[in-house]
Amino acid sequence: MSAVRRGAAGAVLLLLVGWGAVPLARAQAVAPPAALESNVLLEGEQRFRPQWSARGLVAAQEPLASAAGAAILRQGGNAVDGAVATAFALAVTLPQAGNLGGGGFLLLWLPGPSPARQRGCLVEASGGNPAAGPELAIGGGTAVAVNFRETAPAAATATMFLGPDGQVDRARATRSLLSTAVPGSVAGLALAQRCYGRLPLAQVMAPAIRLADQGFPVSRELSDSLAAAAPRLQADPVSRRLFLPPPVPGTRLRQGELAASLRRIAAEGERGFYTGPVADALVGAMERGGGLITHSDLRAYRAQLVRPLRREFRGHPVLTMPPPGGGLTLLQLLGILEPFDLAATGLNAAASLHPMAEAMNLAYRDRNALLGDPDQVPVPVERLLSPAHLDGLRRRIDPRRHTPAPALEAAAAREGTNTTHLSVADRQGGLAALTTTLNFPYGNGISVPGMGFLLNNEMDDFTALPGSANAFGLRQGTANAIAPGKRPLSSMAPTLVFRPDGRPWLATGSPGGSRIITTILQVLLNRMVHGLNLAGAVAAPRIHSQLWPERIDAEEGLSPDSRRLLEAMGHSVRRAPAMGAANSVEVLAEGGSLGTVDPRRAEGPAVAE
Ligand code: DON
Repeated sequence: MSAVRRGAAGAVLLLLVGWGAVPLARAQAVAPPAALESNVLLEGEQRFRPQWSARGLVAAQEPLASAAGAAILRQGGNAVDGAVATAFALAVTLPQAGNLGGGGFLLLWLPGPSPARQRGCLVEASGGNPAAGPELAIGGGTAVAVNFRETAPAAATATMFLGPDGQVDRARATRSLLSTAVPGSVAGLALAQRCYGRLPLAQVMAPAIRLADQGFPVSRELSDSLAAAAPRLQADPVSRRLFLPPPVPGTRLRQGELAASLRRIAAEGERGFYTGPVADALVGAMERGGGLITHSDLRAYRAQLVRPLRREFRGHPVLTMPPPGGGLTLLQLLGILEPFDLAATGLNAAASLHPMAEAMNLAYRDRNALLGDPDQVPVPVERLLSPAHLDGLRRRIDPRRHTPAPALEAAAAREGTNTTHLSVADRQGGLAALTTTLNFPYGNGISVPGMGFLLNNEMDDFTALPGSANAFGLRQGTANAIAPGKRPLSSMAPTLVFRPDGRPWLATGSPGGSRIITTILQVLLNRMVHGLNLAGAVAAPRIHSQLWPERIDAEEGLSPDSRRLLEAMGHSVRRAPAMGAANSVEVLAEGGSLGTVDPRRAEGPAVAE
């Protein structure tokens, strides 16, 4: 389904119910509180209502995985247990994005004193600024971010994707074993669960193991997605055997090898992945197929606990993922836009969209020129978020005219189209926002022999050649150049928003490559500024601009007169396919929580590869 269709109200509502926001007790799923009932999405006649639960819920892209997380909440797990259970289940039921062989980020908030120090975690994983420590106290609880982005292997070099002609070899950068960075997901999920979860890892992973062992009925979405990726999967004999021909919808997909890998992890924690038979098979495949990842790369991999980036927006603390995640750009956008009276100019009106698009161009200019892995390059985080810098950017916005990209003198990014985001609320108001990816759908299409899982092609998120566009138009700088052990820059930005008094409120995030950041921006503006309820805020049509290519991408639903007004200001506007999938949850002040699944397809447009 491309964006939200007019007149397809029933279908949209059905999808919201049927696509993965699983309340713990269906009997309790009643209409949201009266205060939210007046919020009507300005699209057709439909009212969008999030689901409600008194006992927590999981909003993820695939319903069996959401149900796995909800089952863990029901067994007494907290939001972290629920998120970890859902993420492992997505590795089974959503192989295009859920993964063992990829990476991602998690933002969490839990009430009360943190269990992490007592469990030895704050010594063990001290990423970010050790002086400040990774945890941030807010709302009578603790917020922390988990960085499980993949790292470049030790043998990686800045020029490894250049061919003899000095140009980027796209196939090598995206389809070969060289495109695989050291996977981070297993270390990240295990770290989060060990330091902040309440239940044993084996219990949290049990639903995923069951789904892999016993199989599950293949959805039309999965069947279509496998068919679309067939040419890439076909090239690898192991992937071909695991996934092709694409199962007919409704047939059962059993994944015995994946179940065995999951069992090892459940029994041994991350050691079951980074050492032993899984590691041997991964390294063996690398040695035979010309990849770089060694046993020592796997043993050296560490997920990090890091301090979330924080900035207030209209009195609401917003906590998000620092670099190499995309949260800094999100906070820049909120900072640039804060003084604009977007509520008065109106949702999806040209007078609102113009400053938003111009702010996006300016923030992406900074992103592409200056951001990289802060463990390896200096990233001027404070300067980029300073009032002086944000005021300076805002002053560059001409209220009447689009500023052409060459006048801003920089390059920007366009990225792939498959990743997945899940948000969890537990009954104590604990929140988790987790985004994970293999980069392309099914990563590089190559599976680890005998282990049942696919490998990422995250190395393509690095700058292969400074200033030169990659297959997605990505033109980044040397701050994001390839170097051993470095993490490639990402747009993923799981985000938590708090009430002005510090109590937890929203958890959100999205897939969508470079559109991730602008998707989250609009969900937040729709909820906080325009007052849409959570489901409406997620479903409302979105725009995206990133300096280069110089145009506004607009989903279906932008009114023709807004479009004409934008064009009159010098913007080029292109009707774009659906962007992002911002599965989100909200904690209600009066108790209970709401969840909504984005009524767009998880995958959006096919990756140009
Ligand atoms: O980390 C990143 O920014 C990209 N690897 C994400 C790719 C992506 O979101 C594709 N998805 N829809």
